[in-house]
Amino acid sequence: MPSFFLLSVPCILVAWMLLASSSSSPDEEKLIRVLVLLPKDNSYLFSLARVKPAIEYAVRSQQENGTCLPGYRFEVIYEDSECGNRALFSLVDLVALKQQKPDLLLGPVCEYAAAPVARLASHWNLPMISAGALATGFSTKTGEYSHLTRVSPAYSKMGEMFLALFRHHKWSRATLLYSDNNQERNCYFTMEGVHVVFQEEAFPMAVHSFDESGRYLDLDEIVRSIQAGERVVIMCASGDTIRNIMLAAHRQGMTNGDYAFFNIELFNSSSYGNGSWKRGDKHDLEAKQAYSSLQTVTLLRTVKPEFERFSMEVKSSVQKQGLNEDDYINMFVEGFHDAILLYALALREVLKYGFSKKDGDKIVHQTRNRTYEGIAGQVSIDANGDRYGDFSVIAMTNPEAGTQEVIGDYYGKQGRFEIRSNVKYPWGPGKLRIDENRVLEHTNNTPCKSCGLGESAVTGIVVGALLGAGLLMAFYFFRKKYRITIERRSQQEECNVGKHRQLREDSIRSHFSAA
Ligand SMILES: *[C@@H]1O[C@H](CO)[C@@H](O)[C@H](O)[C@H]1NC(C)=O
Ligand SMILES: *[C@@H]1O[C@H](CO)[C@@H](O)[C@H](O)[C@H]1NC(C)=O
Ligand SMILES: *[C@@H]1O[C@H](CO)[C@@H](O)[C@H](O)[C@H]1NC(C)=O
Ligand SMILES: *[C@@H]1O[C@H](CO)[C@@H](O)[C@H](O)[C@H]1NC(C)=O
Repeated sequence: MPSFFLLSVPCILVAWMLLASSSSSPDEEKLIRVLVLLPKDNSYLFSLARVKPAIEYAVRSQQENGTCLPGYRFEVIYEDSECGNRALFSLVDLVALKQQKPDLLLGPVCEYAAAPVARLASHWNLPMISAGALATGFSTKTGEYSHLTRVSPAYSKMGEMFLALFRHHKWSRATLLYSDNNQERNCYFTMEGVHVVFQEEAFPMAVHSFDESGRYLDLDEIVRSIQAGERVVIMCASGDTIRNIMLAAHRQGMTNGDYAFFNIELFNSSSYGNGSWKRGDKHDLEAKQAYSSLQTVTLLRTVKPEFERFSMEVKSSVQKQGLNEDDYINMFVEGFHDAILLYALALREVLKYGFSKKDGDKIVHQTRNRTYEGIAGQVSIDANGDRYGDFSVIAMTNPEAGTQEVIGDYYGKQGRFEIRSNVKYPWGPGKLRIDENRVLEHTNNTPCKSCGLGESAVTGIVVGALLGAGLLMAFYFFRKKYRITIERRSQQEECNVGKHRQLREDSIRSHFSAA
């Protein structure tokens, strides 16, 4: 009898407290509603079909492991974001029409889809975690993007990698060459990450863009723009376009060590190319030679034992949906898995301090400035809520066989660039002749001895001619730049209807203010 009494009192008390505490049922309180906003279209590396198995895997491992969030359940809702405004509409519809406010937003990845969702997330105090939204504009977390945490390295982190690489080589000027199409503008945002970092260092830059989706791509013009620019060339375009540019540069004799080419290829998938020169066509031999002066920047790959199981499961789920490809795991798939883990860790902390899942800002705060174990290795989020990036540089280490290997790695948290010790570095001393002051030297070495005029007159003429040429060039470039900017702007006005304007204009401002 006494034991029954002892047992039943706390039970009754608990039941009474639960009934009285709030109008929402205890079920509802321990239910974490996750809204995933990603495109259905499988041409995206981060389509729902590709990412869903990773999210399910993470949710399952969280629920199997009762120690992390005891009693909590996840309910995951998947909605098509279409890489556009559909993302915002899905969120609004869920809240306004179905009366269900999510506790966590995962995605969107596309910049123009993510921007309005991020604004609404801060307005409604909802944590938003994305493996995308990599543009530099999202780094400003004080205002409208306050609730966004990025679990993949943003483009500006890649910019920091280039800065470390440039410091390593003692370079301080660059040509940025990228493909841009006014749609999703991936390469534009990628290059912007480099531009912003270089601009802070006051590195002189030559910036050129082209539209590779156009019917006719003028490779000669691209090569001429490289020749008119700096000796270190950073490029972003599809794998095939990079190969065509390298072939054209090779034919102009620009692959003998006078230029250093870099290709940004973060996601290593069939749709972005795999950094290889090989295509099985008649240009393979030339391409192999050309690629000896090309280095590819990619994400540093790490794996650990659990990763194998994860990738097997994701692979079989994706295959069941009829997708057959080379690599099933990419940065986005990994990132969204790790996003669930990060949220669970943050929520656990918040609960410990006596807050609830409704305290979005508290949860967001807990996602920042922390390091945790992701599915493929350690994930470090900086105090601003952006993941530190680790990157690798791949180069051709054997020009005869054309083999490419990782030659160096950048560790973002430490800000350290390291050349791997066990590889033969292709650009040994004397092999790479990057002379950043080439143009200057030419003009200084103007032969004067044979000139019939007096030295001062020659100096005057040379200086005058240089000044004139400089002015003409300045005028020309100014006009050209100006025109490009205007064209961009007016094209934007047309195809921008409904897209996120401010992000775009911010980006443009930051991008072109140095031009
Ligand atoms: C369960 O979660 C705890 C805390 O996050 C972790 O230390 C532990 O390794 C996890 N166990 C499994 C089997 O995943
Ligand atoms: C890279 O892609 C090309 C064609 O896209 C293919 O022929 C080649 O085998 C691939 N190489 C690797 C290492 O995946
Ligand atoms: C891409 O993946 C293939 C195999 O999956 C690998 O051999 C190659 O080195 C990778 N390339 C880059 C640029 O990461
Ligand atoms: C980040 O966390 C470390 C300890 O984990 C702390 O010393 C540091 O002050 C934190 N930084 C910020 C900006 O909160």
